[in-house]
Amino acid sequence: MNQKNYQEFKKRRTALTEKIGDGVAVIFNAHEAIRNRDSHYPYRSDSYFYYFSGFSEPQSALFILGGKSPKTILFCRNKNSEMEIWNGFIYGPKEAKEVFLFDEAYDINLLDEIALKEISGREKIYYRIGQNTFSDQKINDWIKALREKTRAGVQTPQLIEDISHIADEMRLIKSDFEIDIMKRSAKIASLAHNRAMKFAKPQIYEYELEAEIVHEFMSHGIRAPAYQSIVASGKNACTLHYVDNNSKIQDGDLILIDAGCELDSYASDISRTFPANGKFSKIQKDFYQLVLEAQSVALSKVSSNHHWNEPHEAALSVLIDGFKDFGLCQGSHQEIYETGAYKEFYMHRTGHWLGLDVHDAGDYKTIAKEWKQLQPGMTLTVEPGCYIRPSPNIPEEFWNIGIRIEDDVLVTHHGHEVLTKDSPKTIESIEALMAK
Ligand code: GLY
Ligand code: MN
Ligand code: MN
Repeated sequence: MNQKNYQEFKKRRTALTEKIGDGVAVIFNAHEAIRNRDSHYPYRSDSYFYYFSGFSEPQSALFILGGKSPKTILFCRNKNSEMEIWNGFIYGPKEAKEVFLFDEAYDINLLDEIALKEISGREKIYYRIGQNTFSDQKINDWIKALREKTRAGVQTPQLIEDISHIADEMRLIKSDFEIDIMKRSAKIASLAHNRAMKFAKPQIYEYELEAEIVHEFMSHGIRAPAYQSIVASGKNACTLHYVDNNSKIQDGDLILIDAGCELDSYASDISRTFPANGKFSKIQKDFYQLVLEAQSVALSKVSSNHHWNEPHEAALSVLIDGFKDFGLCQGSHQEIYETGAYKEFYMHRTGHWLGLDVHDAGDYKTIAKEWKQLQPGMTLTVEPGCYIRPSPNIPEEFWNIGIRIEDDVLVTHHGHEVLTKDSPKTIESIEALMAK
């Protein structure tokens, strides 16, 4: 990160101090997770903590204090030369304060002591209620400890508010800095899908395509996928969160890959579906075209003239017509919509916010319970699909077709921009890429 980026995180903290009055915001970082015995899962900071700090060492916490003299405090591990020999560099409070532009920084072991000092006399504590039992317990313990000192004149905060309400609204609108990272994340993920398409052929295993995806990610400096990659051939594509990725790919299968990478903590999330042998069959083409049409109509509803739900409703309407035409659903369009009969073949919604989390923070409805209006700077996925499981009522030639087409989209002042445009999705362009 360069100097400009540290400033961006500082700006977010300043913005938060302006929203919390005299309160104190407490943001705990994620815990390290043990995989087995002495092996840990790769460490990944809590997204809220990272959003306001840019700091990604474990065993850390952040206080942001509002009021007349706002300040920010980082708690982190002390430098420890012996630990650093084993596990690598540790910033320590002094250097972290300077580099990450905090007003104060202390050893994480002083958290309780300093928390009691900083929290007493404040009216309100903001934190992420229910983040985990540790964080809930800490806040409870601090309040209890302060109450015990009431007779000595110590004042205990009377109010607790979930910081998510404020922080999520901030996270929902991406800055230019965030958009730049997300564009790069989407581009790398697009190239990874292209690589897998080119490599695909019958008789290899799904995990071999996963390896191509990861290879492309890592060759661009990505350290981890944004979520477990889904590489699903044939019937596996009808399992929405299929991650076993261990089946042998058969001639005639469709392959659904849903994979994205995490770049500087920002996720991309793409799905592409393509024929294992490089050529869509007639039936595969028909269903693929239906999903592509649903996606295209949904994308036309992504702009600041539309509400969150409109892309979904538009995609659904196209899919319902298609399910009727294929004889999968009976009755009128309205009946299929109202009874939810379409859910046998399309059971998820058409997208979600995207950002630090693949299913990013942010409400989808306003406080007045209306779907949110889309705004420039919002980033979301558009991902209709169609999944046909074997059933005696369905023509056998339709069985096991599973298709999802998913793009990452930025709402702009003029409409939208598809961030994942570098991966083909028309039948012709997919077949052309696979023929190369
Ligand atoms: N990859 C998760 C999703 O598409 O929502
Ligand atoms: Mn998604
Ligand atoms: Mn996805």
